[in-house]
Amino acid sequence: MTINERAPEGDRSYAAVADRLTMPLVEAMETQRAVRRILPDPVDDDIVLRCIELGLKAPTGSNGQNWQFVVVKDREVLATFARRYRQAWSLYGGLGERVVGNDESMRKILAAVAWQVEHFTEAPVVVVPCLEGAQRFAPVPALAASSWYGSIYPSVQNLLLAARAMGLGASLITLPLWSVTLSRRTLGLPMTVQPVCMVPLGWPRGRYGPTTRKPVGDVVHLDRFGTRPWRGQGVGRPQERSVAAADDPTPAERDATEVRS
Ligand SMILES: Cc1cc2nc3c(=O)[nH]c(=O)nc-3n(C[C@H](O)[C@H](O)[C@H](O)COP(=O)(O)O)c2cc1C
Repeated sequence: MTINERAPEGDRSYAAVADRLTMPLVEAMETQRAVRRILPDPVDDDIVLRCIELGLKAPTGSNGQNWQFVVVKDREVLATFARRYRQAWSLYGGLGERVVGNDESMRKILAAVAWQVEHFTEAPVVVVPCLEGAQRFAPVPALAASSWYGSIYPSVQNLLLAARAMGLGASLITLPLWSVTLSRRTLGLPMTVQPVCMVPLGWPRGRYGPTTRKPVGDVVHLDRFGTRPWRGQGVGRPQERSVAAADDPTPAERDATEVRS
C-alpha cells in the first residue's frame, strides 16, 4: 500500500492524474487524512471539477441534491477568509494549546493548523460546499438538522477521497466560516444558501499516511449501548490495543506524514 506517497511528479494536468482514480477504495479510505500543508502551485480546474462531480454521487435527504459548491481562487476572497480563520484560531488555538498539554501528536496537529492559518491565502483553490433551502430561524428537531447537514457531508467525503486518489492534499475545515452572515456577504450567497465547510485543495508538501483512529471494537455496541463484545479488537486483529491501533504511526511517523515539507 502506497501510504507514504508524495504528490505526483511532473505533469499534474487532469489527463495525467485521472487514472489515479482507479486506486483501490480501501487504500484511498485508509490514507485519506487532513493534509493542511499544500503548495501554492495551480491545480487544473478539471481536477477540481472531477472531485466535485464524484462528490455528487453521494446521497442527499429525499434525493434533494440541494447542494451548491463555490470554487474560490480569488486572492482577495481568500485573504478575507484567512483573516477570519486567524480570528477564530486566536481563540480556538489558544484553548487547544492549554488543553493538549504535552500530547506530542496533538501538538503536531495544532502546528499544522497554525501553518494553514498563516498560509491560507496561498491555497491554489478552496471549495466551499453549501446547502440550498429555506432558512430556519427557529430551533429544528434533531432529525431535521441531521438530514440537513447529512445532505452535504457525504459529498464532501467523496470529494476528499477523489482528491486523495489523484494525489491532492485536502482538508475539511470550518473555522474560517465562523460567521455565516459575513461568509455569505464575501461569497455573494443569497439567504437561501448556507456555506457549510471549506476544503482547501493543493499539491501536498508532505506525504499521505495512515490515520490514527480508535479500534472499531471500542466504538461498536451490540443491541444496546454499553455492550461491547468486540472491545479492544479490530477486524482480523483480535489483540489490538484499545487506545491506538497496533499499526498506528508513532508521533515521529505522524510528523513525517503531515509535517514534512
Ligand atoms: C466538521 C469538521 C470541522 C473541522 N474543522 C477544522 C478546521 O476548522 N481547521 C482544521 O485545521 N481542521 C478542521 N477539521 C479537521 C480535523 O481536525 C481532522 O479531521 C482531524 O484532526 C483528523 O485528522 P486526520 O484525518 O489527519 O487524522 C475539521 C473536521 C471536521 C469533521
